[in-house]
Amino acid sequence: MMWRRLLRTESAFSSRAPIALAAAIPVALIARDRASPATSQCEAGYKLTVPPVKRGQRAFTHAGDEKPVFSRVLVTGGAGFLGSNLCRRLLAEGHEVMCLDNFLTSQRSNISDMIGHPRFELIRHDVTENFYCECDYIFNMACPASPPQYQFNPIKTTKISFFGTLHMCGLAKRVKARILQASTGEVYGDPLVHPQPESYWGNVNPIGIRACGNEGKRVAETLCFDYVRSNKVDVRVARIFNTYGPGMHPYDGRVVSNFILQAIEGKDITIYGDGSQTRSFCFVDDMIEGLLQFMDQEKTVGPINLGNPREFSVKELAEIVIEACGSSSKIRFEPLPSDDPTQRNPDITQAKEVMGWEPKTTLKEGIEKTVHYMRQLDLRKYKNPTPDKSLAGW
Ligand SMILES: NC(=O)c1ccc[n+]([C@@H]2O[C@H](COP(=O)([O-])OP(=O)(O)OC[C@H]3O[C@@H](n4cnc5c(N)ncnc54)[C@H](O)[C@@H]3O)[C@@H](O)[C@H]2O)c1
Repeated sequence: MMWRRLLRTESAFSSRAPIALAAAIPVALIARDRASPATSQCEAGYKLTVPPVKRGQRAFTHAGDEKPVFSRVLVTGGAGFLGSNLCRRLLAEGHEVMCLDNFLTSQRSNISDMIGHPRFELIRHDVTENFYCECDYIFNMACPASPPQYQFNPIKTTKISFFGTLHMCGLAKRVKARILQASTGEVYGDPLVHPQPESYWGNVNPIGIRACGNEGKRVAETLCFDYVRSNKVDVRVARIFNTYGPGMHPYDGRVVSNFILQAIEGKDITIYGDGSQTRSFCFVDDMIEGLLQFMDQEKTVGPINLGNPREFSVKELAEIVIEACGSSSKIRFEPLPSDDPTQRNPDITQAKEVMGWEPKTTLKEGIEKTVHYMRQLDLRKYKNPTPDKSLAGW
C-alpha cells in the first residue's frame, strides 16, 4: 500500500524543529462507494447523520492518483465529541471506520446514527489494554478532554495517555499504519509566551491538579517521537486547542456547554475568576478538517497547533452565548480554581504554511449552531460521567 511507504525514507529529525519528511510518495485514498446514508437519529433527537458519499470526494488524497480505494481507519475515543464527528466525516468520505471506545466520558447515543452503517464497527475496549487489528490509519483520540473529566480520576487519565499511546504506537508499528496522536494546547501549561508556537516548551506545574492532563499528554508526545526516532513509526502529533460544537456531551463540564446549558435554562452563568482570562475557541468542523488535512500531508510529523488563533475573554464568550440563546441570564463570578491558565491561544503559522489550514467559522456562527444542537437534546438521556461539579469547567 502506498501509505505504508511513508516515513520509511530517512527522516531529517531535529528535536527542536518540526520534522521535515522527505517522502514525496503520493497517497490516494479516494472514496470508493456511494454508501446509503445512515438515517437514524441519535437518541437525543438532534439529527447528526452521515451524509452520503459524494462520487469523487476524497480523504487522504493526493492529486494525480485516480485509483479509487478506501482505508481502514481506527478511531480510538470514537464515541466522544471529536471522535464521533471524525467517524461521521470518514464514513462520508468512503472509509471503513473502527470506532473504539470504553464510554468513559461518552455514551452510545452519541454515535447511534452510525451504528448499523455498513462501514462502521463499534468496539468497546479500554486503550490501557492492548488491542490488535488490521488498519491503515489510527486517530488516537481516546482520553478525557475537559478538565473536570480528566481530573475526576487523575491516575486513570495519566494511564490512558501513557498506555493508550504506547499501545496505539505499538499497533501502528506492527501493522505499519500512520497514527495521529491527539495532543493538546494544554502541553503549554500556563504559558509565558503568547501566542504559543510549537517551538515553545511550555510552563507546566508537574504536580498540580491539571498535571494528569498536561503531563499525561506531554509524555504521550514523548512516546510518539521516540517511536519515530527508534522505530520510524509514521506519526502525526496534533496539539488541539479548545474545540466546541454539535456532538459535545452536555455535561462535559467545558465552558461552552456549561454556559449554553445555563443560558437555555435561564440560570446565572458562572464565570470562574473575573472573566478576563482568554481562550481560543475552534468550531468542530474546522478542527476535523484540520485533523484530516494534517493526517494527509507528508511535510511534517508535527507537533502542529490546531485551533482558532482569535482570542476571546471568557466574559465575552458568556455575552455571545446569552445573545445566541436570547436568554435573560445574568453573569455570576466564582473564585478561580488552581492552575487555571490566564491566557492560551495557538500560533497556527505552521498549519497555514504546511496545509493552508485555518478556521473559517466565526465564534458567533459556531455558538449559534451549538445552541441549536443543545436545545434539541433530551437531557434525561444524558448521564453526567463525572458528577463532581465543584471543579471549574475549563
Ligand atoms: N475538545 C477539545 O477541545 C480538545 C482540546 C485539546 C485536546 N483534545 C483531545 O482530543 C481528544 C478527544 O477529545 P474530545 O473532546 O472528543 O473528548 P471526549 O471526552 O468527548 O472524548 C474522549 C473519548 O475517549 C473515550 N475514552 C476515554 N478513555 C478511554 C479509554 N481508556 N479507552 C477507550 N476510550 C476511552 C471516552 O469515552 C470518549 O468517548 C482527547 O485526546 C483530548 O485530549 C480535545
